[in-house]
Amino acid sequence: MAVPQTKLGPFQVEHPFILAPMAGITNSPFRRLMRRMKSALVVSELVSANGIEYMGQKTLELLKFHEEERLIGLQIFGENPERLVGATRYVEKLGADFVDLNLGCPVPKVVKNGAGSAMCRDPISLGKTLAEMVKAVKVPVTIKIRTGWDSESRNALDVIRAAADAGVGWVAVHGRTRAQGYSGKADWDFIGDLKAKSPIPIIGNGDILTAEDAVHKVRTYGVDAVLIGRGALRNPFIFEQAAALWRGEVRPAPQPEDYVAMLGAQKQLLHETYEPRGAMLHSRKFLAWYSAGFPGSSEFRKKVFSIPDPDELWQVAVDFFRESSKSRNLDFMREEFLMGGHG
Ligand SMILES: Cc1cc2nc3c(=O)[nH]c(=O)nc-3n(C[C@H](O)[C@H](O)[C@H](O)COP(=O)(O)O)c2cc1C
Repeated sequence: MAVPQTKLGPFQVEHPFILAPMAGITNSPFRRLMRRMKSALVVSELVSANGIEYMGQKTLELLKFHEEERLIGLQIFGENPERLVGATRYVEKLGADFVDLNLGCPVPKVVKNGAGSAMCRDPISLGKTLAEMVKAVKVPVTIKIRTGWDSESRNALDVIRAAADAGVGWVAVHGRTRAQGYSGKADWDFIGDLKAKSPIPIIGNGDILTAEDAVHKVRTYGVDAVLIGRGALRNPFIFEQAAALWRGEVRPAPQPEDYVAMLGAQKQLLHETYEPRGAMLHSRKFLAWYSAGFPGSSEFRKKVFSIPDPDELWQVAVDFFRESSKSRNLDFMREEFLMGGHG
């Protein structure tokens, strides 16, 4: 059977499995790693359009990316239409392949200013802003939304139609309302219905924790692609595995040597990007996530947060995963994990 093609706006991508944007996580070294490990494209974490206007140092740091990351989208958020248009132009100038607008963030600090998911409450006014953003650049403008503000107002279809009229390239939908935060389950039937009615590509998102489920979601709900967030922190091999399944190949669970190679690459990328303290901070976070649920993980995490020397830390990690990844019972990867974020 021929493998279906995956087309998103003007881009032909290898397969429909994509790393979801996550603040504090999908930074440049992790995006590089995930591109090597076959995420079809990558998106930065949300970056403030106001911060771009003021050229804040921290903001500009967040916008840096490496050629290896392409296709790369830079994600912005904000509430002021002129600043959003300015930020869109700036991001295009930096060389991003597309500009993504965060319209899903549920965090009070963001929505109280009218940014993130609050912008979707008024699809007409949102449509005008999106049309201005689209007009301002040559690269695609894309959006990431939730299903609605709360269970009474799941207006994603209105938002999608307004976005399509404005010329937006595609819409990623996290299948929860803003009010749900990270509770309950993503509503994939709702996402499937949106896809059936949408004139532009729809990327589904929410609660995908295994490669099998990723393939199942694309096939069952007809979405053009899926975003995988927390599942990639549990299982950084999920894109390779899903891509193989998609092509009809059988790929065994990651072997100890796969973990050793991945850890070596990540250590190098982190230390190449950050000064030693920053690199250690990120190393500890990722190692703790990858180990979650493996036998002996709580002991391992204690070590991770107490070892001061980077070489020793990564050696302990290699030893841990070389041993623990021999375990073939990976059911724990289906458990809930990391219940909060910006989209
Ligand atoms: C720690 C964390 C940070 C996040 N930051 C962002 C973000 O910056 N931009 C965004 O659009 N979504 C963000 N999200 C939402 C994810 O992209 C995704 O929509 C959500 O986690 C559901 O997908 P998942 O079940 O595959 O994790 C974040 C999620 C988490 C857990």
